[in-house]
Amino acid sequence: MQLKINETLIYFEKDLAKLEEFCGNFKLNKYFIMIDQNVYNFYANELANYFRACKIVIIPSGEEHKNMETVLSICQQLLEANITRGDTIIAIGGGVATDVCGFVASILYRGIKHLMIPTTLLAMVDATMGGKCGVDFNGRKNILGSFYEPKGIYISPYFLKTLPPEQIESGLGEVVKYSFLAKDINLAKEDDMINIIKEAILIKKRYVEADFKDKGMRMCLNLGHTFGHAIELKEKLLHGQAVLEGIAMIFDLETDLGLDVKAEKELFERLLTKYNLHIHHYDYKNYLDDIFKDKKNFNGTLNLVFVKDFMPYLYPVTRGDLDDKIKL
Ligand SMILES: NC(=O)c1ccc[n+]([C@@H]2O[C@H](COP(=O)([O-])OP(=O)(O)OC[C@H]3O[C@@H](n4cnc5c(N)ncnc54)[C@H](O)[C@@H]3O)[C@@H](O)[C@H]2O)c1
Repeated sequence: MQLKINETLIYFEKDLAKLEEFCGNFKLNKYFIMIDQNVYNFYANELANYFRACKIVIIPSGEEHKNMETVLSICQQLLEANITRGDTIIAIGGGVATDVCGFVASILYRGIKHLMIPTTLLAMVDATMGGKCGVDFNGRKNILGSFYEPKGIYISPYFLKTLPPEQIESGLGEVVKYSFLAKDINLAKEDDMINIIKEAILIKKRYVEADFKDKGMRMCLNLGHTFGHAIELKEKLLHGQAVLEGIAMIFDLETDLGLDVKAEKELFERLLTKYNLHIHHYDYKNYLDDIFKDKKNFNGTLNLVFVKDFMPYLYPVTRGDLDDKIKL
């Protein structure tokens, strides 16, 4: 199946057989591969059957490398390999590699063409689609970044066979989030991974197409992310785990504000059981200072994403409002 979202052509394939056809859509001249270290170790030989890159740049694995140092090192290697404005970058890896590569693609020559091949569940259902890219800085998540869409994304659950179970769980964290973003698509009934990924992307498509620059409706995709970002680096959680914790924290906050989210909490618990996911259940009150440092804080007002009748909505709030309304 193929889908076009804004500028991006997306292939959903069970294996790598259509990679050549996929690349054929983009009239590639010279191209440079940027690949996550672990993915390179697992798939270098196999991928060599499909690609004849000018240069392969290895990206060190792990969130701790999602920073400007990695960005500058990649730019240096690409320039030393004589990358030009008309060339293409192909990013292969999880959300760290694709966020870093998207950012590099957006700043090099003020923007060069790039394609993405996500290899984690989280990158397949979320990180590669929608054009957001960036790196962490000063202990804060994704604080330096840009909007820059890849020309194509090749999604195949084929890569998931080597993905550690905790990383699958992290991806499922984002899948759980999507269950509160559309009423007419029931992700919970899907068991086949490629269908789960497709439906998640179809849900995200609605938000990205309606509000690419993240000024309104798209912010609802951040359900669970405000508290999630606050605890991800602090508690050293995987991204999707932090999002799950963040959703639980939002439901607790809504409850303390007197809002009825009983049915939504029940669905959340059912989804945790279905996917065999476990959460620590952090106390949101301990992270209120942190969330007001979030990059989505505009002049002291934060748009929290709340849920009502199984759909998200924005709840603008200041720290003062919260202190008044909840008993700290
Ligand atoms: N841009 C966006 O819209 C967006 C959306 C959601 C998340 N993100 C970002 O994505 C990042 C998290 O992405 P992630 O969860 O993919 O983490 P990741 O990129 O760190 O990958 C997780 C681990 O899996 C390894 N790996 C990757 N593919 C593998 C495979 N097929 N087999 C074996 N090992 C493999 C990696 O080397 C790494 O160790 C976060 O930085 C988050 O901020 C971005």
